[in-house]
Amino acid sequence: MKIVNKISELQSALADYRSNNQTIGFVPTMGNLHQGHLSLVDKAKEEADCVVVSIFVNPTQFGPNEDFDAYPRTFEADCDKLNEQGADIVFAPSVEEVYPDYINNPDRPNLTTVHVAELGNDHCGESRPTHFDGVTTVVCKLFNMVRPDLAVFGQKDFQQLTIIKRMVRDLNIPVTILGAPIVREPNGVAMSSRNGYLSPAELQQAAGLQQTLQWAKSQLENHLLNFDQVEQGALERLNERDLRVDYFNIANATTLQVAESSDKEIVILAAVFLGKVRLIDNLTLSLQ
Ligand code: PAJ
Repeated sequence: MKIVNKISELQSALADYRSNNQTIGFVPTMGNLHQGHLSLVDKAKEEADCVVVSIFVNPTQFGPNEDFDAYPRTFEADCDKLNEQGADIVFAPSVEEVYPDYINNPDRPNLTTVHVAELGNDHCGESRPTHFDGVTTVVCKLFNMVRPDLAVFGQKDFQQLTIIKRMVRDLNIPVTILGAPIVREPNGVAMSSRNGYLSPAELQQAAGLQQTLQWAKSQLENHLLNFDQVEQGALERLNERDLRVDYFNIANATTLQVAESSDKEIVILAAVFLGKVRLIDNLTLSLQ
Protein backbone atom coordinates (compact mmCIF):
# COMPACT_ATOMS: atom_id res chain seq x y z
CA MET A 1 0.00 0.00 0.00
CA LYS A 2 1.30 3.40 -1.01
CA ILE A 3 0.82 6.46 1.21
CA VAL A 4 0.95 9.82 -0.56
CA ASN A 5 0.45 13.38 0.65
CA LYS A 6 0.76 15.43 -2.53
CA ILE A 7 -1.66 15.58 -5.45
CA SER A 8 1.27 15.14 -7.88
CA GLU A 9 2.40 11.97 -6.05
CA LEU A 10 -1.15 10.66 -6.13
CA GLN A 11 -1.37 11.20 -9.85
CA SER A 12 1.91 9.46 -10.60
CA ALA A 13 0.87 6.55 -8.36
CA LEU A 14 -2.36 6.27 -10.38
CA ALA A 15 -0.73 6.62 -13.79
CA ASP A 16 0.29 2.94 -14.01
CA TYR A 17 -3.21 1.74 -13.18
CA ARG A 18 -4.71 4.07 -15.77
CA SER A 19 -2.25 3.07 -18.51
CA ASN A 20 -3.20 -0.58 -17.87
CA ASN A 21 -6.88 0.38 -18.22
CA GLN A 22 -7.51 -0.61 -14.61
CA THR A 23 -10.51 0.90 -12.86
CA ILE A 24 -10.11 3.17 -9.84
CA GLY A 25 -12.44 3.02 -6.84
CA PHE A 26 -12.39 5.81 -4.27
CA VAL A 27 -13.43 5.98 -0.60
CA PRO A 28 -13.23 9.49 0.88
CA THR A 29 -12.93 9.59 4.70
CA MET A 30 -11.88 11.86 7.53
CA GLY A 31 -9.92 9.04 9.20
CA ASN A 32 -10.32 7.52 12.67
CA LEU A 33 -11.42 4.49 10.75
CA HIS A 34 -13.80 1.85 12.03
CA GLN A 35 -15.59 -1.14 10.53
CA GLY A 36 -18.09 1.16 8.77
CA HIS A 37 -15.31 2.79 6.74
CA LEU A 38 -13.63 -0.56 6.11
CA SER A 39 -16.86 -1.97 4.67
CA LEU A 40 -16.68 0.78 2.04
CA VAL A 41 -13.15 -0.33 1.15
CA ASP A 42 -14.43 -3.90 0.72
CA LYS A 43 -17.17 -2.69 -1.61
CA ALA A 44 -14.73 -0.58 -3.63
CA LYS A 45 -12.40 -3.60 -3.92
CA GLU A 46 -15.25 -5.73 -5.25
CA GLU A 47 -16.02 -3.14 -7.93
CA ALA A 48 -12.63 -1.70 -8.95
CA ASP A 49 -9.04 -2.81 -9.65
CA CYS A 50 -7.35 -0.13 -7.55
CA VAL A 51 -8.75 1.35 -4.33
CA VAL A 52 -7.78 4.83 -3.17
CA VAL A 53 -8.80 5.94 0.33
CA SER A 54 -8.43 9.59 1.29
CA ILE A 55 -7.92 10.65 4.88
CA PHE A 56 -8.58 14.36 5.20
CA VAL A 57 -10.31 16.20 8.03
CA ASN A 58 -11.96 18.87 5.94
CA PRO A 59 -12.09 22.20 7.79
CA THR A 60 -14.75 23.77 5.56
CA GLN A 61 -17.47 21.31 6.59
CA PHE A 62 -17.14 22.10 10.31
CA GLY A 63 -19.08 25.03 11.78
CA PRO A 64 -17.28 27.61 13.98
CA ASN A 65 -18.28 25.87 17.23
CA GLU A 66 -17.83 22.31 16.02
CA ASP A 67 -15.07 19.78 16.71
CA PHE A 68 -12.60 20.41 13.84
CA ASP A 69 -9.57 20.82 16.15
CA ALA A 70 -10.66 18.03 18.47
CA TYR A 71 -11.70 15.62 15.67
CA PRO A 72 -9.86 12.34 16.39
CA ARG A 73 -6.74 11.92 14.24
CA THR A 74 -5.31 8.38 14.32
CA PHE A 75 -3.31 8.26 11.10
CA GLU A 76 -0.96 5.36 11.85
CA ALA A 77 -3.67 3.05 13.15
CA ASP A 78 -5.81 4.01 10.13
CA CYS A 79 -3.02 3.07 7.70
CA ASP A 80 -2.54 -0.29 9.46
CA LYS A 81 -6.25 -1.04 9.07
CA LEU A 82 -6.27 0.01 5.41
CA ASN A 83 -3.21 -2.06 4.65
CA GLU A 84 -4.87 -5.11 6.22
CA GLN A 85 -8.08 -4.40 4.29
CA GLY A 86 -6.19 -4.37 0.99
CA ALA A 87 -6.40 -0.69 0.01
CA ASP A 88 -3.87 0.23 -2.68
CA ILE A 89 -3.29 3.94 -2.09
CA VAL A 90 -3.87 6.21 0.92
CA PHE A 91 -4.10 9.87 0.00
CA ALA A 92 -3.58 12.04 3.07
CA PRO A 93 -3.10 15.64 1.94
CA SER A 94 -2.41 18.57 4.26
CA VAL A 95 -5.00 21.34 4.56
CA GLU A 96 -2.72 23.56 2.44
CA GLU A 97 -2.49 20.92 -0.30
CA VAL A 98 -6.27 20.92 -0.63
CA TYR A 99 -6.82 24.62 0.13
CA PRO A 100 -3.69 26.59 -0.89
CA ASP A 101 -5.19 29.84 0.46
CA TYR A 102 -6.15 28.37 3.83
CA ILE A 103 -3.27 29.97 5.75
CA ASN A 104 -4.17 33.49 4.60
CA ASN A 105 -7.89 33.05 4.66
CA PRO A 106 -9.07 30.13 6.81
CA ASP A 107 -12.69 31.30 6.78
CA ARG A 108 -12.84 31.46 2.98
CA PRO A 109 -10.04 29.42 1.45
CA ASN A 110 -11.94 28.88 -1.81
CA LEU A 111 -13.78 31.49 -3.84
CA THR A 112 -15.67 28.67 -5.56
CA THR A 113 -18.21 26.62 -3.63
CA VAL A 114 -20.29 23.71 -4.86
CA HIS A 115 -23.79 24.24 -3.50
CA VAL A 116 -26.56 21.73 -4.10
CA ALA A 117 -29.82 23.59 -3.56
CA GLU A 118 -32.79 22.31 -1.50
CA LEU A 119 -31.45 18.88 -0.52
CA GLY A 120 -29.18 20.38 2.13
CA ASN A 121 -31.72 22.74 3.71
CA ASP A 122 -33.41 20.41 6.17
CA HIS A 123 -32.36 17.67 8.61
CA CYS A 124 -28.59 18.03 9.28
CA GLY A 125 -28.52 21.19 7.15
CA GLU A 126 -30.86 23.00 9.51
CA SER A 127 -28.51 22.84 12.49
CA ARG A 128 -25.32 22.80 10.34
CA PRO A 129 -26.07 25.46 7.68
CA THR A 130 -22.62 25.52 6.03
CA HIS A 131 -21.84 21.82 6.42
CA PHE A 132 -23.02 20.38 3.10
CA ASP A 133 -21.39 23.12 1.00
CA GLY A 134 -18.11 22.16 2.68
CA VAL A 135 -18.75 18.49 1.93
CA THR A 136 -19.74 18.92 -1.72
CA THR A 137 -16.89 21.33 -2.39
CA VAL A 138 -14.23 19.03 -0.92
CA VAL A 139 -15.70 15.90 -2.51
CA CYS A 140 -15.75 17.63 -5.90
CA LYS A 141 -12.10 18.68 -5.39
CA LEU A 142 -11.13 15.15 -4.31
CA PHE A 143 -12.92 13.69 -7.36
CA ASN A 144 -10.84 16.00 -9.57
CA MET A 145 -7.63 14.93 -7.82
CA VAL A 146 -8.33 11.17 -7.88
CA ARG A 147 -10.50 11.01 -11.03
CA PRO A 148 -12.04 7.70 -9.91
CA ASP A 149 -14.37 5.51 -11.96
CA LEU A 150 -16.50 4.91 -8.89
CA ALA A 151 -16.74 6.19 -5.34
CA VAL A 152 -18.36 4.55 -2.31
CA PHE A 153 -20.25 6.42 0.43
CA GLY A 154 -22.08 5.11 3.51
CA GLN A 155 -25.84 5.20 3.89
CA LYS A 156 -25.16 6.21 7.49
CA ASP A 157 -24.91 9.77 6.11
CA PHE A 158 -28.04 9.41 4.01
CA GLN A 159 -28.46 13.13 3.31
CA GLN A 160 -24.78 13.45 2.31
CA LEU A 161 -25.10 10.47 -0.08
CA THR A 162 -28.24 11.95 -1.64
CA ILE A 163 -26.58 15.35 -2.11
CA ILE A 164 -23.43 13.86 -3.65
CA LYS A 165 -25.45 11.77 -6.10
CA ARG A 166 -27.27 14.94 -7.15
CA MET A 167 -24.05 16.96 -7.50
CA VAL A 168 -22.55 14.27 -9.76
CA ARG A 169 -25.70 14.19 -11.87
CA ASP A 170 -26.06 17.98 -12.12
CA LEU A 171 -22.39 18.62 -12.92
CA ASN A 172 -21.86 15.58 -15.19
CA ILE A 173 -18.96 14.39 -13.04
CA PRO A 174 -17.82 11.13 -14.66
CA VAL A 175 -17.98 8.92 -11.55
CA THR A 176 -20.44 6.24 -10.42
CA ILE A 177 -21.62 6.74 -6.85
CA LEU A 178 -22.33 3.61 -4.82
CA GLY A 179 -24.06 3.55 -1.42
CA ALA A 180 -23.11 1.00 1.24
CA PRO A 181 -25.25 -0.20 4.19
CA ILE A 182 -24.83 1.15 7.74
CA VAL A 183 -22.45 -0.92 9.89
CA ARG A 184 -23.56 -1.06 13.52
CA GLU A 185 -22.14 -1.84 16.97
CA PRO A 186 -23.45 -5.08 18.53
CA ASN A 187 -26.11 -3.03 20.41
CA GLY A 188 -27.40 -1.46 17.19
CA VAL A 189 -25.70 1.95 17.45
CA ALA A 190 -24.44 3.08 14.02
CA MET A 191 -20.64 3.07 14.05
CA SER A 192 -19.20 6.58 14.06
CA SER A 193 -15.86 8.20 14.78
CA ARG A 194 -17.73 10.32 17.34
CA ASN A 195 -18.79 7.19 19.32
CA GLY A 196 -15.28 7.33 20.77
CA TYR A 197 -16.40 10.40 22.74
CA LEU A 198 -19.02 8.25 24.57
CA SER A 199 -18.54 6.38 27.86
CA PRO A 200 -19.64 2.69 27.88
CA ALA A 201 -22.85 3.73 29.70
CA GLU A 202 -23.56 6.42 27.10
CA LEU A 203 -22.96 3.95 24.27
CA GLN A 204 -25.72 1.80 25.80
CA GLN A 205 -27.95 4.87 26.11
CA ALA A 206 -27.26 5.75 22.46
CA ALA A 207 -28.94 2.50 21.41
CA GLY A 208 -32.24 4.28 22.18
CA LEU A 209 -31.89 6.15 18.88
CA GLN A 210 -31.82 3.00 16.77
CA GLN A 211 -34.56 1.40 18.91
CA THR A 212 -36.78 4.45 18.36
CA LEU A 213 -36.14 4.37 14.61
CA GLN A 214 -37.11 0.67 14.57
CA TRP A 215 -40.25 1.44 16.58
CA ALA A 216 -41.18 4.20 14.10
CA LYS A 217 -40.55 1.93 11.13
CA SER A 218 -42.80 -0.80 12.49
CA GLN A 219 -45.59 1.69 13.28
CA LEU A 220 -45.45 2.97 9.70
CA GLU A 221 -45.10 -0.41 7.99
CA ASN A 222 -48.06 -1.76 9.92
CA HIS A 223 -50.09 1.44 9.36
CA LEU A 224 -50.67 1.79 13.10
CA LEU A 225 -50.02 5.54 13.34
CA ASN A 226 -49.79 8.40 10.85
CA PHE A 227 -46.57 10.38 10.18
CA ASP A 228 -47.33 13.10 12.76
CA GLN A 229 -48.24 10.58 15.44
CA VAL A 230 -45.06 8.59 14.81
CA GLU A 231 -42.90 11.72 15.00
CA GLN A 232 -44.62 12.74 18.23
CA GLY A 233 -44.25 9.25 19.72
CA ALA A 234 -40.59 9.13 18.72
CA LEU A 235 -39.85 12.49 20.37
CA GLU A 236 -41.42 11.22 23.60
CA ARG A 237 -39.39 8.00 23.48
CA LEU A 238 -36.14 9.83 22.84
CA ASN A 239 -36.85 12.31 25.65
CA GLU A 240 -37.58 9.45 28.05
CA ARG A 241 -34.13 8.05 27.22
CA ASP A 242 -32.46 11.43 27.85
CA LEU A 243 -31.51 11.75 24.20
CA ARG A 244 -31.90 15.44 23.31
CA VAL A 245 -33.53 15.58 19.90
CA ASP A 246 -31.99 17.73 17.17
CA TYR A 247 -34.45 16.41 14.61
CA PHE A 248 -36.58 13.34 13.91
CA ASN A 249 -38.07 13.59 10.43
CA ILE A 250 -40.05 11.26 8.21
CA ALA A 251 -39.14 12.19 4.63
CA ASN A 252 -39.49 11.17 1.01
CA ALA A 253 -36.37 9.04 0.38
CA THR A 254 -35.62 10.76 -2.94
CA THR A 255 -36.44 14.43 -2.38
CA LEU A 256 -35.79 14.44 1.41
CA GLN A 257 -38.88 16.67 1.72
CA VAL A 258 -41.42 16.03 4.50
CA ALA A 259 -43.19 12.79 3.55
CA GLU A 260 -46.70 13.01 2.14
CA SER A 261 -49.32 10.34 2.61
CA SER A 262 -48.94 9.20 -1.02
CA ASP A 263 -45.15 8.64 -0.68
CA LYS A 264 -44.02 5.01 -0.76
CA GLU A 265 -40.22 5.18 -0.43
CA ILE A 266 -39.54 6.70 2.97
CA VAL A 267 -36.47 7.57 5.02
CA ILE A 268 -36.64 8.34 8.71
CA LEU A 269 -33.75 10.65 9.55
CA ALA A 270 -32.74 11.52 13.10
CA ALA A 271 -30.05 13.30 15.10
CA VAL A 272 -29.78 13.49 18.88
CA PHE A 273 -27.34 14.94 21.38
CA LEU A 274 -25.96 12.80 24.14
CA GLY A 275 -24.08 15.30 26.29
CA LYS A 276 -22.07 17.27 23.72
CA VAL A 277 -21.92 14.41 21.22
CA ARG A 278 -24.26 14.59 18.25
CA LEU A 279 -25.29 11.22 16.81
CA ILE A 280 -27.13 10.61 13.54
CA ASP A 281 -28.91 7.56 12.20
CA ASN A 282 -31.62 6.68 9.69
CA LEU A 283 -33.80 3.86 8.38
CA THR A 284 -35.39 3.44 4.99
CA LEU A 285 -38.68 1.66 4.34
CA SER A 286 -41.15 0.99 1.55
CA LEU A 287 -44.83 1.46 2.32
CA GLN A 288 -47.40 -0.78 0.62
P1 PAJ B 1 -16.44 10.24 7.49
O1 PAJ B 1 -17.37 10.67 8.56
O2 PAJ B 1 -15.05 9.83 7.84
O3 PAJ B 1 -17.12 9.08 6.69
C1 PAJ B 1 -16.51 8.55 5.55
C2 PAJ B 1 -17.49 7.60 4.88
O4 PAJ B 1 -17.77 6.51 5.77
C3 PAJ B 1 -18.83 8.26 4.56
O5 PAJ B 1 -19.27 7.84 3.27
C4 PAJ B 1 -19.73 7.73 5.66
O6 PAJ B 1 -21.10 7.68 5.30
C5 PAJ B 1 -19.16 6.34 5.84
N1 PAJ B 1 -19.53 5.77 7.15
C6 PAJ B 1 -19.32 6.32 8.37
N2 PAJ B 1 -19.85 5.54 9.34
C7 PAJ B 1 -20.41 4.47 8.71
C8 PAJ B 1 -21.12 3.31 9.15
N3 PAJ B 1 -21.38 3.08 10.43
N4 PAJ B 1 -21.54 2.43 8.22
C9 PAJ B 1 -21.31 2.65 6.89
N5 PAJ B 1 -20.65 3.73 6.41
C10 PAJ B 1 -20.21 4.63 7.31
O7 PAJ B 1 -18.42 11.50 5.63
C11 PAJ B 1 -17.32 12.02 5.72
O8 PAJ B 1 -16.26 11.43 6.41
C12 PAJ B 1 -16.95 13.33 5.05
O9 PAJ B 1 -18.09 14.15 5.00
C13 PAJ B 1 -16.36 13.16 3.63
C14 PAJ B 1 -17.35 12.51 2.67
C15 PAJ B 1 -15.05 12.34 3.69
C16 PAJ B 1 -16.00 14.56 3.05
O10 PAJ B 1 -15.10 15.24 3.87
